[in-house]
Amino acid sequence: MEKKANHFSGQLGFVLVAAGSAVGVGNLWRFPYLAAKDGGGLFILIYFVLVLTFGFTLLVSDIAIGRKTKKSAIGAYTEINPKWRFLGILTFLVPVIIMTYYTVIGGWITKYAVVYLTGQAESAAQDGYFTGFITAPVAPVIFTLLFTGVTAFIVYNGVQDGIERVSRYMMPVLLVLVVVIAIYSLTLKSTDADGNLRTGMQGLVYYLTPNFEGLTIKRFLQILLDAMSQLFFSLSVSMGIMITYGSYVKKEVNLNKSIRQIEFFDTGVALIAGAMIIPAVYVFSGVEGMSAGPSLMFVSLPKVFSAMGKMGVVVGIAFFISAIFATLTSCISVLESIVANCMDIFHTGREKTVKVLTVIYLAASAVISLGYSIFYLEIPLPNGSVGQLLDIMDYISNSFMMPFIALLSTILIGWIAKPEYVIGEMEASGDKFGRKGLYSIMIRFVAPVMMLALFLQSTGILG
Ligand code: PHE
Repeated sequence: MEKKANHFSGQLGFVLVAAGSAVGVGNLWRFPYLAAKDGGGLFILIYFVLVLTFGFTLLVSDIAIGRKTKKSAIGAYTEINPKWRFLGILTFLVPVIIMTYYTVIGGWITKYAVVYLTGQAESAAQDGYFTGFITAPVAPVIFTLLFTGVTAFIVYNGVQDGIERVSRYMMPVLLVLVVVIAIYSLTLKSTDADGNLRTGMQGLVYYLTPNFEGLTIKRFLQILLDAMSQLFFSLSVSMGIMITYGSYVKKEVNLNKSIRQIEFFDTGVALIAGAMIIPAVYVFSGVEGMSAGPSLMFVSLPKVFSAMGKMGVVVGIAFFISAIFATLTSCISVLESIVANCMDIFHTGREKTVKVLTVIYLAASAVISLGYSIFYLEIPLPNGSVGQLLDIMDYISNSFMMPFIALLSTILIGWIAKPEYVIGEMEASGDKFGRKGLYSIMIRFVAPVMMLALFLQSTGILG
């Protein structure tokens, strides 16, 4: 039973599953927002350069370590150097924390999909609808539990029969849906209060044109850090997920090609998400309507959909279904990474491990989803914002732990195990590791410095 196909069927399966983890709410609500805020094409340009250098370095490291050791974070880092077991444990804790709130967001998205499917699109566009929903004591919990249960069920079914099967279906559908919505977005037109005609194409131009207006060194650095933190959240690196997925990749799979495809998929969906959201928001509310995070997806977009008239219902359904697929495949990767680490530590089988973790996470995610009602808090965070339970979990895992772990892992690989450790694995299937030189320089010199800067910035130490 333990030996039930603990690997992906091949390269395509691996790429779709890894892309499933990478493509999530980060692509749908964070990338478009940052692009609109950080100078459009300028942000996109910087992001591209970072994907190909920095993102590539972290992704290669995680996946190669996983495949080489055939273990998850705790076992893998211990195998590289027993003194660094603590880094494995720290890394393992990131998905442990993320799982408590990603399911809550998944629950909200599920709720909105249900709302649009049952013909209540208009009520979702009313002021206060979202706040009313998340501050209610029962409904958010029910949707969160549902989302957690579905995630657990898929993971229970195993690497190939659960995770890979679902990703093979959801990822292509997701891609088609976002492309179709983006094309529709570009055809939109409306006249604003001052009688000016706004078109989707103008919105696209706004999105893609690099805007250097008011660019100072300080602002440039801010954009750089925004792009960097977005990037490694988006690629799901430095949290052990890609180590776990790497451990399921067969030796004959070409890692170079797979990693290129994962980078391409994740960045492509982020770009298209921008082309789907920015022009639509631009046409109906102007770019001032681009808000961050949840309020973009749950407050601004429902209003935009409503302004589209009858088509808005169809677009809303397509959008929330694609968002469910994006979130579900990401949430699966989070849970799988926890499960795999626990199986390594406790030597338990998949079924039992998933069952125990499901009970724990049903309880934990219910608590977090009550963070806007029964367990409402206002905690000032070091980065200057004030957060509820969900934001606190997000802050600890993404702003605090991830850059710290990335920093430590670049030191471990670059200076203790040496880049050859990873390079050897990248060439294990007999393929050429094209960006080998780049990798060595990045992992030893550039990435540690950038990670330190990001860590200091996101913890508020560096103003
Ligand atoms: N990569 C996902 C995204 O872009 C986020 C994510 C974070 C996924 C953590 C899994 C784990 O939204």
